[in-house]
Amino acid sequence: MSKTILLASDHGGFALKSVLVQALRKVDCQAEDLGPEGTASCDYPAYADKLCLRLLDSGEDGQNGKVLGILICGTGLGMSMAANRHPGIRAAVCTNEFTARMARAHNNANVLCLGERVIGQGLALEIMRAFLATPFEGGRHLRRIEQFETYSQP
Ligand code: RB5
Repeated sequence: MSKTILLASDHGGFALKSVLVQALRKVDCQAEDLGPEGTASCDYPAYADKLCLRLLDSGEDGQNGKVLGILICGTGLGMSMAANRHPGIRAAVCTNEFTARMARAHNNANVLCLGERVIGQGLALEIMRAFLATPFEGGRHLRRIEQFETYSQP
């Protein structure tokens, strides 16, 4: 099954984004680079918003892993905070393969957040591969993630 992977960054994640886009285009993936196109200073919330709206628009919630997002900034933190403001987005900052697998298997994360200033390119590629290859387990984990929406009601 061909996956669509949406990617965006700020200036702090631009170089790593380029590496990941190139890697994805060599495999059975449709990589859509939502910007930016260079390293000029920019604000990560705008790019997080752009990617999340595209992901939510696709009608995919990550359940089948067909459309997933990758957001990259200096640390991954700002991107995850901005992305998680969107109901239906479950963004996870991952710094190793184990958390990448668990983010998909147990949390059904639909956005992977990475920090270019935190991890090297080799590890980032491994994390991305683990994230994309791992299906959501459902069952009791579905019940739990459904409670995100319940508890976020005012
Ligand atoms: C930009 O300098 C940096 O603050 C940003 O990339 C990110 O790390 C924020 O969380």
